[in-house]
Amino acid sequence: MSANGSPMGFGRMRRKEDARFVRGRGTYVDDVRLPGMLHGAVLRSPLAHARIESIDTTAAEAHPKVQAVITASELAERGLAWMPTLSYDTQAVLASDKVRFQGQEVAFVVAEDHYAARDALALIDVEYSPLPVVADAGTSLDESTVVIRDDLKDKQDNRIFDWEAGDKASTDAVFAKADVVVAQDVLYPRVHPAPLETCGIVADFDPIAEKLTAWSTTQAPHAHRTLLASVLGIPEHRIRVISPDVGGGFGNKVPIYPAYLCAVVGSMITGRPVKWAEDRSENLMTSAFARDYHMRGEIAATSDGKILGLRVRVLADHGAFNCTAQPTDYPAGFFHIVTGSYDLQAAHCEVTGVYTNKAPGGVAYACSFRIAEASYLVERLVDMLALELDTDPAELRMRNLLRPGQFPYVCPTGWEYDSGNYPAALELAMKTAGYEALRAEQAAKRERGEYMGIGISCFTEAVGAGPRKHMDILGLGMADGCELRIHPTGSAVLRISVQSQGQGHETTFAQIVAHELGISPDEVEVVHGDTDQTPFGLGTYGSRSTPVSGAAAAVAAQRVRERAKLVASAMLEVSPSDLDWERGRWFVRGAPTIGRTITEIAAAAHSSLELPDGVEGHLDASCVYNPPNLTFPYGAYICVVDVDPGTGQVKVRRFIAVDDCGTRINPTIVEGQIHGGLADGIGMALMELMAFDSDGNCLGGSFMDYLLPTSVECPPWELGEMVTPSPHHPLGAKGIGESATVGSPAAVVNAIMDALKPFDVRHADMPLTPAAVWCAIQGRPLRS
Ligand code: CDP
Repeated sequence: MSANGSPMGFGRMRRKEDARFVRGRGTYVDDVRLPGMLHGAVLRSPLAHARIESIDTTAAEAHPKVQAVITASELAERGLAWMPTLSYDTQAVLASDKVRFQGQEVAFVVAEDHYAARDALALIDVEYSPLPVVADAGTSLDESTVVIRDDLKDKQDNRIFDWEAGDKASTDAVFAKADVVVAQDVLYPRVHPAPLETCGIVADFDPIAEKLTAWSTTQAPHAHRTLLASVLGIPEHRIRVISPDVGGGFGNKVPIYPAYLCAVVGSMITGRPVKWAEDRSENLMTSAFARDYHMRGEIAATSDGKILGLRVRVLADHGAFNCTAQPTDYPAGFFHIVTGSYDLQAAHCEVTGVYTNKAPGGVAYACSFRIAEASYLVERLVDMLALELDTDPAELRMRNLLRPGQFPYVCPTGWEYDSGNYPAALELAMKTAGYEALRAEQAAKRERGEYMGIGISCFTEAVGAGPRKHMDILGLGMADGCELRIHPTGSAVLRISVQSQGQGHETTFAQIVAHELGISPDEVEVVHGDTDQTPFGLGTYGSRSTPVSGAAAAVAAQRVRERAKLVASAMLEVSPSDLDWERGRWFVRGAPTIGRTITEIAAAAHSSLELPDGVEGHLDASCVYNPPNLTFPYGAYICVVDVDPGTGQVKVRRFIAVDDCGTRINPTIVEGQIHGGLADGIGMALMELMAFDSDGNCLGGSFMDYLLPTSVECPPWELGEMVTPSPHHPLGAKGIGESATVGSPAAVVNAIMDALKPFDVRHADMPLTPAAVWCAIQGRPLRS
């Protein structure tokens, strides 16, 4: 413990950054106010698919407070009418030929204030000729369906890609010999990350220095700088991206949005800084969505419950432009980890991506690139198999879970899981839940016509992308840099390439350095979110900060320690090989009272002491960490619900979550991450839906329509902890940021389906709103 009670390394401590957050002293993009700053607003398409006949901006330009009106033709003069997406597609920055989804960017107004910019949008006259709309992914590949992306040369249909993983022949063979096969169509509906802070930018182009400074809500400042450089043609060293405090990202702040480029162009045209900040509806309707996976799953087993194989076919709705964000060679992300936590003989999955007239995106909303979809599917299938076999779902899982001795385990689609003890996690969850007693309670309630359900989900995540030889985004390999500077007084500054959106990096990264050097986390300042001040790296998403950048911090600190050893040997006039380390100091082996603390050594490294070879004058060190593999956190969740059959209302009564993310740096922060993810899961299972009508009108454009969970829907969480260190991470830590979002929806849905067992309901799609549950009980389709 340090003098103020902080642990000298790992353990519970309050978040350092909260000192400013709880006082309302955070600095978000919308707090940035620069002298002479103008404001931008986006004119958006009211139609989902239409040809643009004309755009008349005369009246808007005449508005006394308007400084510029930008349309695709101005952008085209600068070669910016279209921009590359993170998935090697192109996206219209401002629409020129057609609009392809409702809310698409058509024009950008720059004005003296935000209100004038908004008012002037109404003065722009756009003439549209409506086109047939593809709102249903299921019809997108029909021959008669209109081609959405006729801007792409020779494009004849709405197919984006076909992709497969696993071995089809061996999977078919396993299915052929199976006693039981269960098949089901399962939808993971379109949902939205819905961060509390919407997206925005303040773009300040200095025409004299020809330097762009962009304060933006990005989760990946360095990647954005490189992309802005290649798109805008500004040399990268003349671009500074600053991502100040960010109010939640969840994948939504990974892409570069058209309005970011419009704000930059607005600043270039006017010579003044331009701020653009989305409102809530813009964020929900037009920024990157998640999921929208239409899945057909089949699971094969023996009659005594040994699961043999999995066969999956997916239609992936990517919206009007392919803007998904995942490593290049993985068009369906890490979906092929669909075998989950089970020991199967074979698996095969096929994914077809399609264009529809909906907002683009398909980002990894609080999961590592489509693992949420994969985990949900396999956990639903296992429950349906249990139903078919008339077996307890816990028993079926216990029989088929991977055993600790099987790690490292290579799954049938090629992932090498690093470590885990899955049966112990399920056992702990069942013990915490009082599983036997819950089943007895359920049986008694069924007798009384009360419908209680118990749902289980055993999930495996794969987080911490790279390694860079297998994983890149637009050619940028997935590794992360870090620099650690030790001041003469022994305090430290750690500069990292990842960017916190509220996960507490300023605390946990300080704890990592503190752990390695034996100093207090309070003595470690963490700098992030500014490309001029931090080394290059790919940013924060897919729970990669701790697995990749956290490892970089640990290695840099270990390098500092090794340098300190050389200096200590000079100070103590002994050979480095005669020194031993204990937290915070090097001492002479066999004479523990003779030693030097890191603080003393740091002072000596900056003093007139004759420094030994290998130390040039300070202890500073850096590291670029290229992870050898992903880390594989996992968990076992149990959810208990009560369903009112008269109204279809679901009450989540209990939720038991056992998580294993290896070494926990700060258990309080880890638990907070789990709490948030569990709430996310309840939201997706019960209420979140980005729906569209057949004309492509978005029906989820406000928080009145797109429902988010609150504490009212969430029970007191009951958490259990397992620690199986990752064998390849220098701290044994695995990511945790998204585990609970991945694992929890299946537990809730499985619980509801378990409650509805007496009604012979096998499956109903999320979100299980009261109407959806009621219809399932009645045996009616939801929208009849
Ligand atoms: O990339 P992101 O920060 O979203 O996810 P993460 O690496 O899983 O970390 C989320 C937060 O939990 C960070 O503050 C981590 O340092 C912390 N954490 C931890 O204390 N122990 C772990 N084993 C994993 C994460």
